[in-house]
Amino acid sequence: MATILAIESSCDETAASVCRDGKILSNIIATQEVHKKYGGVVPELASRAHMQNIVPVVDSAIKEARIELSEIDAFAFTQSPGLIGALLVGAQFAKSLALATGKPLIAVHHMQAHVLANLIAEEKPSFPYLCLTVSGGHTQIVLCESPVKLTILGETLDDAAGEAFDKSAKLLGLPYPGGPLIDKYAEHGDPNKYKFTEPQIPGLNFSFSGLKTGILYFIQNKTAENLDFVKDNMNDICASIQQRIVSILLNKLKKASIETGIRKICIAGGVSANRGLRNEFKKMGEQNKWSTYIPAFEYCTDNAAMIAITGYYKYLAGDFAGLEVTPSARAEW
Ligand code: KG4
Ligand code: ZN
Repeated sequence: MATILAIESSCDETAASVCRDGKILSNIIATQEVHKKYGGVVPELASRAHMQNIVPVVDSAIKEARIELSEIDAFAFTQSPGLIGALLVGAQFAKSLALATGKPLIAVHHMQAHVLANLIAEEKPSFPYLCLTVSGGHTQIVLCESPVKLTILGETLDDAAGEAFDKSAKLLGLPYPGGPLIDKYAEHGDPNKYKFTEPQIPGLNFSFSGLKTGILYFIQNKTAENLDFVKDNMNDICASIQQRIVSILLNKLKKASIETGIRKICIAGGVSANRGLRNEFKKMGEQNKWSTYIPAFEYCTDNAAMIAITGYYKYLAGDFAGLEVTPSARAEW
């Protein structure tokens, strides 16, 4: 029996979760509203908000799990990647708990945790499986041979999929983060109305910067003819942009499945909340006889339950960190 308390503080969510033997007992998230008026996350404000939130969030996670601090076997935290000041708050808090209780510390890579969020559900993929992780900072296709053997097969050469959504939304005058808004407008639009080209990138890597430039010129040209072009055609523009981002992602995922022969396929990360991606992923799965998996919505966007499940498997593998461990803004795994 192993009970893990996990802390996630890599960006603008202060989160804590308790996991017992692979089952999530609590999953608490405090989203920082302070960044809204700045159109993006302000690192210094994020660090301060983490300092304010961390005690009540961890306390709620323990209370909701109906356990005592003394029952926790290890403390997991997000070590990398993320905003360094934000990571430091969670790391230092986890270290203090480990020091005070004499229990071990587990350092977790945030992107590995997104991939392993697929192991939270009752119906989970067996190994090996492939995972397309799509978030605000990353786009990766990962081969998962065990909870502690993860290999990146392909990743973005420039913008992440979430950035592609958010930057496109910005060009359309939508507020940050624009991904969910594109999703919303796209629901009522025609995805075939406007054509944006798909980049030809070798292997399993991705690129989204060309798409962003294409959208910029498209909007400039159309707005020169009609000042209200974007406003008048928001649904169709969003549906067309979304369709192209989704096709770039899924065509590479299909390629990865063909190359590896693996048909158990997952998606994870904040962008996996996108309805267009979820629908097309399921459709592609049916066409190619894949078993498809998507984490529950609360485990797709940043959360501590994914850190807790990863911590649990690292605990079983005896993969602990020393108290001298430090967070890192960017770290390979
Ligand atoms: O994984 P995540 O919560 O945080 C990071 O680790 O980056 O991902 C956040 C990203 C943002 O770019 C946001 O716009 C995008 O996920 N996102 C979406 C949707 N929900 C969140 N993009 C498109 N459609 C959505 N429904
Ligand atoms: Zn994330």
